[in-house]
Amino acid sequence: MRKKIVAGNWKMNLDFSQAQQLMQQLAEYQNNNTSACEVYIAPPALYLTTAKNTFSKGEVGVFIQEVSEHTSGAYTGEVSVDMLSSIGAQGAIIAHSERRQYHGETDSHANRKVKMCLDKGLTPIYCNGETLEQRKANQHFEVIKNQTEVALFTLTAEEIKKVVIAYEPVWAIGTGETATPEQAQEIHAFIRNLIADKYGKEVAEEVSILYGGSVKPNNAKEIFSKPDVDGGLIGGAALKVEDFSAIIEAFN
Ligand code: PGA
Repeated sequence: MRKKIVAGNWKMNLDFSQAQQLMQQLAEYQNNNTSACEVYIAPPALYLTTAKNTFSKGEVGVFIQEVSEHTSGAYTGEVSVDMLSSIGAQGAIIAHSERRQYHGETDSHANRKVKMCLDKGLTPIYCNGETLEQRKANQHFEVIKNQTEVALFTLTAEEIKKVVIAYEPVWAIGTGETATPEQAQEIHAFIRNLIADKYGKEVAEEVSILYGGSVKPNNAKEIFSKPDVDGGLIGGAALKVEDFSAIIEAFN
C-alpha cells in the first residue's frame, strides 16, 4: 500500500524563534495524532538541524526545499545530499515551480537530483505541473508527460517506487485558486498511468502522488478523497499549526 503523506513547504518564511515555536507545536500535536498519514516539513535549510532535534523520534520527516546536483566543492550557497544525509534528514523537494521559475531548475536537473537522493537513501519529492497558459492551450497532459518522462523515467522500477511525486499546477500555487478535486484526480490518474505503461501497474500502485496548490483545511478532505491523490504538499497553510493539523486530519 502506498503511503499517505501531508508535507509542509515553509518556503522563505518565519524567523528562527517563530520556526522553533511552530516545530514545538507540531511535535506536541504529533504526540497525540492518530491520523494514518506521514507528516513531513521542509523548513528553510538554516533550520534543518533544529527540526531534526525537535522531531527526535522521527514523528515528522525533515526535508530540504532544494538540493544541489553536485556532490561537494566550490558551489557557494548549495547543500549536498551527503550533508543532508549526515544530519539525518529524510529527503528533498526537487524542482518546485518556484525553483523552476526563479532559479532555472529543469527536469534534467531534477533527473540527476532524484537519482542522487535515491542513491543516498533519501526520499525525493519531485514536483511538476503546468502553467496557466499551458492549461488554457490544453497542453497540460503533454507538459506533465514530458516532465515526468525526463525527470523520472531513467530510474529502475525499484527506484521509482521510492519517489514521491507532487503535482502542483503553477496557477494554483499561492493564488487561492485550487484545482478542483476532479482536475487533480484526472492528472494524478494520468501520471499513474504513465508510470504503469513504463513500469507496470504494480509499480505504479506503489508511488505516492501528492497534490499541491492552495490546499486549505476547508478543501483538503475532498481533494484527498480522490483515489489517486495520496496527500498534499502544503505551502501557506503549513505555517500555522491549526491549519496544518486540520489538513493532516483530513485523513481521519
Ligand atoms: P500553497 O503552496 O499551498 O501556498 O499554494 C503550495 C506549494 O508551493 O507547494
